[in-house]
Amino acid sequence: MRRICIAGNWKMNTTISEGEQLASALVERMKSQSATVDVVLCPPFPHLQSVGKALEGSALALGAQTMHFEEKGAYTGEVSPVMLEGLCRFVIIGHSERRQYFAETDATVNQKVKAALAHSLTPIVCVGESLDIRHAGSFLSHIESQVKAAFDGVTLGNGSEVLVAYEPIWAIGTGLAASKEQAQEVIGSIRSTLKSIYGDAIADFIRILYGGSTNAENIDSFLAEGDIDGALVGGASLKVDSFAGMVEKAAGAGR
Ligand code: PGA
Repeated sequence: MRRICIAGNWKMNTTISEGEQLASALVERMKSQSATVDVVLCPPFPHLQSVGKALEGSALALGAQTMHFEEKGAYTGEVSPVMLEGLCRFVIIGHSERRQYFAETDATVNQKVKAALAHSLTPIVCVGESLDIRHAGSFLSHIESQVKAAFDGVTLGNGSEVLVAYEPIWAIGTGLAASKEQAQEVIGSIRSTLKSIYGDAIADFIRILYGGSTNAENIDSFLAEGDIDGALVGGASLKVDSFAGMVEKAAGAGR
């Protein structure tokens, strides 16, 4: 059985001290739930050390929100996988905001997935369609091509771990979450695509999250769907009560 994963993407929010306080409060509140649910906090880069310190000795894990695929070089402002290795365990790759505002493409997502795995980082690979693509009815083929591109030439095995997050762009930060049926339809299809690439055994092991306006009120409905293994959470990850509330519901989901 796949363990539920609830990952918080803080995006460009919180000061260093707010981040420390949020992380410490979450550690305190989640002592029991984190035994059954994987909880990941993805703060901004400058917080990785201080939040990492706040998480020490707890079961909560740390992730970055993006990274460059090169190990080093003249890439002003970028952070490399070498810098993240040992500092955090997870890294979000190809979030739709990165694709929209920072020109990330399926090709760079693929390079980043390879770089993450080469540096013992677990990528959370984001895919999802715009409202136009949803309305045009071509969302399943759009997402299939994003998944195939992200994993092109990527070898999995020997304990290498990846997660996929299905995040419909129209549901992110809008308060308009996908329905559980919409999320399950796409996530089931992502699992089929992964099966076609890696075979059943590996694809059945990969956790696929839903993201887009999740909160403590709607998380239950997603977790009741067979293929949905957790959530990538934006807005609701910034408040102790809402994020801890989601983890508490996930711990009660009986997986
Ligand atoms: P949201 O963001 O939960 O605020 O909709 C999700 C995400 O962008 O990962």
